[in-house]
Amino acid sequence: MAIAYYLSLILINLEKMPKHKEFIFREFLPTDIAGALDLWSSVDGMGLTESDTPEKIGLFLARNPGLSAVAISDNGEVIGALLCGHNGRAGSLYHLAVSACARGKGIGHRLVEFCLARLAELDIPRCNIFVYNDNEEGNRFWLGSGWIDPATWRVLQIRLS
Ligand SMILES: CC(C)(COP(=O)(O)OP(=O)(O)OC[C@H]1O[C@@H](n2cnc3c(N)ncnc32)[C@H](O)[C@@H]1OP(=O)(O)O)[C@@H](O)C(=O)NCCC(=O)NCCS
Repeated sequence: MAIAYYLSLILINLEKMPKHKEFIFREFLPTDIAGALDLWSSVDGMGLTESDTPEKIGLFLARNPGLSAVAISDNGEVIGALLCGHNGRAGSLYHLAVSACARGKGIGHRLVEFCLARLAELDIPRCNIFVYNDNEEGNRFWLGSGWIDPATWRVLQIRLS
């Protein structure tokens, strides 16, 4: 009888435990590249280019040590990723994505905070992000958290290869 009582207490407490431990936010390491590419490939309209091979991402991380971020789930999966670099004058963020099943929990904002804090430590005074005009979710995310659309200039581009 007593055993049954203690077993039921354990079961009740297990039920109350969160299904996910806290996500881990940390620097994006070369070992995260495959997981991040899987995540980015699963997101509609991510706009992956020839710069998104494992080798090219590895070069980007090496050129910008410690600036990019990932969120890791309790089973070790990359469920959020953001690339961050700078050219000495301004920072740039690329490919913010969070797994569809983990959105709306503040993970996107935590990744951005991580990268902006690293840029601030390096005394980089501003940061840019390119968002497709028709990406409603993306535009809401950035414009709702203090980012501005200066609308006084265009981004122009030329291809070198
Ligand atoms: C845009 C994207 C990265 C946001 O990731 P996310 O983890 O869902 O972002 P957050 O949870 O930090 O914020 C999303 C919303 O949840 C809300 N939120 C944040 N923390 C929350 C919490 N603890 N509980 C409930 N809601 C919360 C935020 O207010 C935010 O609302 P808003 O979008 O109206 O501003 C994600 O939707 C995504 O991967 N989209 C597809 C790829 C994409 O478009 N990327 C942007 C390219 S530029």
